[in-house]
Amino acid sequence: MLVLGIESSCDETGFALYDGVGKRLLAHALHSQIDMHRAYGGVVPELASRDHIRRALPLLEQVLGDAGCGKNDIDVIAHTRGPGLAGALLVGSGIAHALGFALGKPVIGVHHLEGHLLSPLLSQDPPEFPFVALLVSGGHTQLMHVKRVGQYELLGETLDDAAGEAFDKTAKLLGLDYPGGPAVARLAEFGTPGALQLPRPMRHSGNLDFSFSGLKTAVLTEVRKQTNLCEQGRADIALAFQDAIVDVLALKSMAALKATREHRLVVSGGVGANSALRKRLQADVTKRGARVYFPELQWCTDNGAMIALAASMRMAAGIERAAHDYSFTVKPRWDLGSLTT
Ligand code: KG4
Ligand code: ZN
Repeated sequence: MLVLGIESSCDETGFALYDGVGKRLLAHALHSQIDMHRAYGGVVPELASRDHIRRALPLLEQVLGDAGCGKNDIDVIAHTRGPGLAGALLVGSGIAHALGFALGKPVIGVHHLEGHLLSPLLSQDPPEFPFVALLVSGGHTQLMHVKRVGQYELLGETLDDAAGEAFDKTAKLLGLDYPGGPAVARLAEFGTPGALQLPRPMRHSGNLDFSFSGLKTAVLTEVRKQTNLCEQGRADIALAFQDAIVDVLALKSMAALKATREHRLVVSGGVGANSALRKRLQADVTKRGARVYFPELQWCTDNGAMIALAASMRMAAGIERAAHDYSFTVKPRWDLGSLTT
C-alpha cells in the first residue's frame, strides 16, 4: 500500500512516499522556507502559505520520479491536518483532497505531533514501543508516554514558550539570525563555562511541566545590564541560556523515565538537534541503565515521511480508515491527547 505524505503545517513543505506493506520509505523531498523568512526574523504565515503552493507540485513530481511511480500507483493520500498555521495547513490539505478527488483515492488527516512521535521509527536504529518521548520543537515542548501507536499519555508540557521558541527569542535578543536554535548553539561554543548562571525554571516544581518565558526575561535582563555587550559577553549569555534549558530538559526527562519505569527515551523535534542536549541526555540516560534514541536530523525536523508513516501505522493498527470524502477542515489547534484510543 503506497501512502503519499504531505506536510505543510509551518515553514517546510514535505512530500514522501511510504510503502505501508514493505514498511519502507521509498522517497521523500523537502523544501525549507527558512531563507525566505529569515529577513523577517520569524515565520510570516501568509508568505508560508504562498510558498507551500509554489513548492507542492514540483515536490510531488520529485518523489514520484525518485520512487519510480506514477500518480495512479498512490493508494492513500495523507496530509497534516493540524496543529499549525491555518493557511499553511489549508494548502497541504487542499492539495491532498484535490489529488484524492482527481485520482479517486482516499485521504487521511494526520496530527503533526503524532508524526513527530512516530518519526524515530524511520531511523536506522528504531526504538521499540513503549517509550518516553521528549518532543522539543519551535511550537511544542512535551514529555509523552508512547505506549503504542494511538496511545499517547501527556506527562508534562510547557506552560508558556516552547524550548525552540525560547532559543529563537534568545537569538533575537542577542542579535542573531532566525532560526535561533543553531545560531545560539554555535555562539555558546565560545562561552566561558560558569561565567554566568541563569535560572532553571520549574526545576523543583515536582511535576513534569516546563516554563521558559522567565528564562527569556532573564536573558533580556542580562543583555540590558551590559550596555556595551561584547562578543564574549554574548557568548557567555548564549552558553548560560543553553545550559539552563538543557539542564531542565534533561532533569525532567529522567524524572519521566522514573515515573513511567520505561527504559527508552526518544528525542524528536528541531531542538533535538542541539548537541549539548544530546550529550547531556546520553550521559544521564546511560547512568540510569536506559537508552536514548536520537533519530537522524532529517527525521527530527518537519518532513512528509513522518506524516505518511503515521497514517500508515494508524491504518495498519485499525485505528483509522482513509476516506473518500473530499470535503475538509484543518485543525490549527488540536490536542494530541484526543487521539488516544
Ligand atoms: O521541529 P522543528 O523543525 O519545527 C517545528 O517547530 O515544528 O523545530 C524548529 C525549532 C526552532 O525553534 C529552531 O530554533 C530549533 O528547533 N532548533 C534548535 C537547533 N536546531 C533547530 N534549537 C537548539 N539547537 C539546535 N541545534
Ligand atoms: Zn514540527
